[in-house]
Amino acid sequence: MAQIVCVLGNKGGTGKTTLSHMIAHGMGLLGKRVVCVLTDIERERLAKEGRRYLPFDARSHDNLSRVVTTLNEVDDWFGVIDGGGNRSDMDSQLANLADMVLLPFRDSHEDIRTVLRDLEWLPAAWAVPSQWPTNAWARKAADASVQSLMDRYRHRILDPVPVMASSKLLLQDRIPARLPPQLNSMCRALAMQVFESLGVEFESVPDDSALPDEAGGSPARKAPPMRRIG
Ligand SMILES: Nc1ncnc2c1ncn2[C@@H]1O[C@H](COP(=O)(O)OP(=O)(O)O)[C@@H](O)[C@H]1O
Ligand SMILES: [Mg+2]
Repeated sequence: MAQIVCVLGNKGGTGKTTLSHMIAHGMGLLGKRVVCVLTDIERERLAKEGRRYLPFDARSHDNLSRVVTTLNEVDDWFGVIDGGGNRSDMDSQLANLADMVLLPFRDSHEDIRTVLRDLEWLPAAWAVPSQWPTNAWARKAADASVQSLMDRYRHRILDPVPVMASSKLLLQDRIPARLPPQLNSMCRALAMQVFESLGVEFESVPDDSALPDEAGGSPARKAPPMRRIG
């Protein structure tokens, strides 16, 4: 049976689609077979050419059932399901299928209020600080908001995903032949964090900066560690 990660949450714009693709890409870079499942009817399907994972269009109920059935029948695959936002019924159903649920939220009180409700509602889910500021002062302020408003849930907060302009390259219909090493490192670090939570073994692969291009190479360094809040 494949392992399924669902990226959910009752709010648009938190980074669900971006995070789904980053995790799928990172898992692909770590040599895993991954399908990234689109359920959001507001989004277009993306071409699979050049990707390390398979994007699958499950905007119709039939296609979603098909991909879930297939994932239940195959071993050694991972499914990353991008929820649409604002659909509690759908999110409940997806959360029931999931081995891991991620709830991205941005640095705003409104996002934090929503993610607190979602954490309450989905007791096994993890919150993921998304589009997190990289500027030292802003980062400190954002971390302080999380500490003061989310302290009760501090054991269920993963490492922040920083603002990274190049993340939108993964949401292009066709991705560039070469992606920035910094993006690849971040995606690998995210995938490793997910694998660690799921108890999945993975081979440590070299950081891109140690490679002539993004394919292959001998084991060297791991992706840079991300700093936890708190
Ligand atoms: N880590 C990130 N760094 C920079 N921009 C981001 C990041 N994550 C998301 N974004 C941007 O934020 C916007 C909303 O992201 P998206 O993934 O579409 O959210 P959702 O699927 O929750 O609606 C998009 O413009 C996307 O490019
Ligand atoms: Mg989306």
